[in-house]
Amino acid sequence: MSMHFLCYHCLLENLYFLAAAYPGIEIAEEAQWADLIQGSTAVINLAGNPISTRWSPEVKAEIMKSRVDATSKVVEAINAAPQELRPSVLVSATAIGFYGTSETQTFDELSPSGADYLSRVCREWESTAQKVDSDVRLVLVRIGIVLESDGGALAQMIPLFKLYAGGPIGSGKQWFSWVHRDDLVGLIMEALKNSSYRGVINGTAPNPVRFSEMCDQLGAALGRPSWLPVPAFMLQALLGEGAQLVVNGQRVIPKKALELGFKFKYKYVSDALKAIVSS
Ligand SMILES: *[C@@H]1O[C@H](CO)[C@@H](O)[C@H](O)[C@H]1NC(C)=O
Ligand SMILES: *[C@@H]1O[C@H](CO)[C@@H](O)[C@H](O)[C@H]1NC(C)=O
Repeated sequence: MSMHFLCYHCLLENLYFLAAAYPGIEIAEEAQWADLIQGSTAVINLAGNPISTRWSPEVKAEIMKSRVDATSKVVEAINAAPQELRPSVLVSATAIGFYGTSETQTFDELSPSGADYLSRVCREWESTAQKVDSDVRLVLVRIGIVLESDGGALAQMIPLFKLYAGGPIGSGKQWFSWVHRDDLVGLIMEALKNSSYRGVINGTAPNPVRFSEMCDQLGAALGRPSWLPVPAFMLQALLGEGAQLVVNGQRVIPKKALELGFKFKYKYVSDALKAIVSS
């Protein structure tokens, strides 16, 4: 069984995808940040280590540090740029892990933060981004589970489904707040361009599903049955606390994006999965 059954969201892959789709975007290695940020009109910060590994205390520290340090460096570079060379907008990634997990609650941008480790990471991550100079428009995108064909969650799940081994994990009732990568990219681009976008925005599709439905829909898209549930304890044995991302979920609604009139290409997971599987 794959150790990375579900990658929470692969930030770097999304970054490369963004750069490929939008020619004006340049990907900067850490050493170039300060130079490239000066004179840029906008900055997108998606940096951070993957979350879906086994969480030893060292890994946990690294997950936190990689996000906070990267964001801190980006913010310092923006703040240090002379006024006339300072970007006017920073779009900074965070995650729906902010809200903690629940089978019954619905969370939105105004919901308080959860009490678990990931919530703490997201809080620190966001508060670091908030140190950006107040004349820079800040958009914090709380990203859900990104569905894409060439990486991330589905890349891990599809091979398992093809072996007839994919199926719900744990009870299957946990929420799966997904977003198609095209929509995440569209939302980020809209946030860059449109000054009505400001503050926290949930980067999730309008119709989150329970994990069992996600598995059924993926099975249907692939023409395979959704197979036996993967017991939660197995996953926990493999991933340790990292499994809580998949074993527990959260139902997140993109209230603000919808209010702003953002048009999702993929509102339903069935459409998103069909598009991905047939691509
Ligand atoms: C984010 O999602 C939560 C949970 O559904 C919701 O309560 C909140 O209003 C959303 N926030 C925004 C800014 O969309
Ligand atoms: C920005 O978003 C607002 C709110 O949805 C909308 O009314 C406005 O037309 C948008 N502006 C641009 C330049 O797209």
